[in-house]
Amino acid sequence: MLEVAGLSKAFGGLKAVDEASLTVDAGEIVGLIGPNGAGKTTLFAAIAGFHRPDAGRIAFGGHDITGLPPHKICAAGMVRTFQITQPFAKITVRENIMVGAYLATADRRAAAAKAEAVAAQVGMADQLDQNGADLTVAGRKRLELARALATGPRLLLLDEVMAGLNPTEISEIVAIIKAIRQSGVTILLIEHVMQAVTSLAERVYVLNQGRMIAEGTPAEIAENPQVVEAYLGHGAAKVLRA
Ligand SMILES: Nc1ncnc2c1ncn2[C@@H]1O[C@H](COP(=O)(O)OP(=O)(O)O)[C@@H](O)[C@H]1O
Ligand SMILES: [Mg+2]
Repeated sequence: MLEVAGLSKAFGGLKAVDEASLTVDAGEIVGLIGPNGAGKTTLFAAIAGFHRPDAGRIAFGGHDITGLPPHKICAAGMVRTFQITQPFAKITVRENIMVGAYLATADRRAAAAKAEAVAAQVGMADQLDQNGADLTVAGRKRLELARALATGPRLLLLDEVMAGLNPTEISEIVAIIKAIRQSGVTILLIEHVMQAVTSLAERVYVLNQGRMIAEGTPAEIAENPQVVEAYLGHGAAKVLRA
């Protein structure tokens, strides 16, 4: 469904993403992990059209989408969430979600109906009339998810939707993400914390300093010495094995 090949993106002299490749098949939940600053968000932004890659190719559903703007990629069925959530503060949750729905329909009633359906999917049915400003961190994360879902994606790119949540809120989001996949949406998700990914993803990619250093099942990844060192520092894998 998604094929990223040799993607690079630099900011000045910094190679934030360095020849990274990944694939996502229809129906999968795939994880993308890596230490802070590894380039995960930059890779997402490039895939979703927010950054023009310096090199590499992105194919979605068999079509080359490299260099297309975000709204065209969204219309093709791929949408990302933002790590830093910015709901519109002075409008309601319903209206915030409708902003996403309007990318799929121009009809106000259809957009409102879509917003309500999606709110139910993410457990926000009771909060539709609250203002964006009044949401907790967990509420903002759910709203971000809802806004993306309202665009009607086939592939959803989730950027750290669990960051800042407590264990109860995390297990609720995990259940919501599983249900979204059950509804037929393929998911590629960034998580900083390995454990959160383990319960969701069939396959995990590891990015470190812009480079893809590993790919495998969560169990394979947890045992990969290169991955352990990327997280804990040089020599860590040897120390842990001793
Ligand atoms: N718009 C930008 N301009 C300059 N540098 C950036 C920009 N976005 C990210 N970076 C840098 O690129 C690197 C990767 O950042 P990012 O993709 O946000 O990593 P991650 O999401 O894995 O934490 C970091 O060193 C970050 O400071
Ligand atoms: Mg990030």
